[in-house]
Amino acid sequence: MDFKMPLLSLPSGFPTEIWTEVSPKTELLPEDPWFLVGDSRIKPLWQTWAPAAPLGELWLETTEQKKSISEVLICLETWSTMPLSKQSVVVCVGGGVLSDLVGLAASLYQRGLRWHVWPTTLVAQVDASIGGKTAVNLGEAKNQIGSFYPPNRVVLCHDFLKTLPASHLENGQWEMIKMALLEGDPAWLASLSDRLGQPGFRSSFERDIERCVLGKVSIVHQDLRDQGDRKLLNLGHTMAHAIEAASQFKIPHGQAVGFGLLVACGMSSSLGLSDFPTSLLNRWSEQLKSSGLVWPSWNECVPFLAWDKKKENTKGESVFHEPLPRQGERAILVSCALQPFEQAFQKVRSHF
Ligand SMILES: NC(=O)c1ccc[n+]([C@@H]2O[C@H](COP(=O)([O-])OP(=O)(O)OC[C@H]3O[C@@H](n4cnc5c(N)ncnc54)[C@H](O)[C@@H]3O)[C@@H](O)[C@H]2O)c1
Repeated sequence: MDFKMPLLSLPSGFPTEIWTEVSPKTELLPEDPWFLVGDSRIKPLWQTWAPAAPLGELWLETTEQKKSISEVLICLETWSTMPLSKQSVVVCVGGGVLSDLVGLAASLYQRGLRWHVWPTTLVAQVDASIGGKTAVNLGEAKNQIGSFYPPNRVVLCHDFLKTLPASHLENGQWEMIKMALLEGDPAWLASLSDRLGQPGFRSSFERDIERCVLGKVSIVHQDLRDQGDRKLLNLGHTMAHAIEAASQFKIPHGQAVGFGLLVACGMSSSLGLSDFPTSLLNRWSEQLKSSGLVWPSWNECVPFLAWDKKKENTKGESVFHEPLPRQGERAILVSCALQPFEQAFQKVRSHF
């Protein structure tokens, strides 16, 4: 075989086999009968690369608005017309929206079909395809219906990323920055921030992708069901999910995460945990400003924060269990009220 071995340093017992490749290899398609669910945008690309015939295929147009239970039903109803059995495998080829919804459908059909992901966006390669969180949105509330159902195999092909528009590449770069911030590695953070927004996939990202995958694997392997350290991966995401929902998903996930990371750094500073270099924070805000997006106000975001990780304490106040970053150290989970969120949000928002 001329293709690489799966990523070697995965902990033993990790439920997913992860391969990194430059281009797709038909040898990595399932040996058992398989069904393809793909993002219609990459259908022409996939068809030039994958001569092996699936049992059947379903190509879906994917948008955050379509990440809904009705798309899951389309998968389930299509599979029910096919000779799919427990021996069959579902192969998902697409970005994070598709892998989240196909994973959920796979977890439900006949109480669980095996599934593989070939992630085609940077967000999906460094984050969404790893760790087995599947979900769809319920109305405007993000990821309200979901399951923990890790894929059996993930095949990361760098060539898929070459057709990604710059804005989608940037989405993934923000998730990589999140991981560097979480790990508290200033050199990695600076190197990723320097390349933020540069057009075109670069081979220099290959090592960063691998590092993000291994970082996420090491966390989720300890805490698949999100009871402890896995919450660290939500760094910047409480705010990001509220921003996305308040903008009716006009603001892409990655850029919302970028804003959320700025808020998290502001909270870290106001709570006396850490101060981040102004040059770094300015670099991030300049990048977000250059996108020309219209950012929602605090009041527009608040109702959506309530759907997230809010808990109430004995005095009836909202309490969030937020990961906050620390310069040069790993992020930590902190219990905090709504007020530090608002203060940090308003400070970041005033620059936009
Ligand atoms: N499950 C998890 O742990 C997890 C983690 C992070 C994000 N997510 C979820 O992932 C979603 C975001 O994922 P995403 O950013 O991949 O979005 P996406 O799946 O919507 O893809 C973004 C766009 O890129 C297009 N596209 C896909 N591959 C392409 C390619 N190779 N070339 C050109 N265009 C291509 C898609 O059609 C789409 O228009 C969110 O719903 C988020 O909640 C999940």
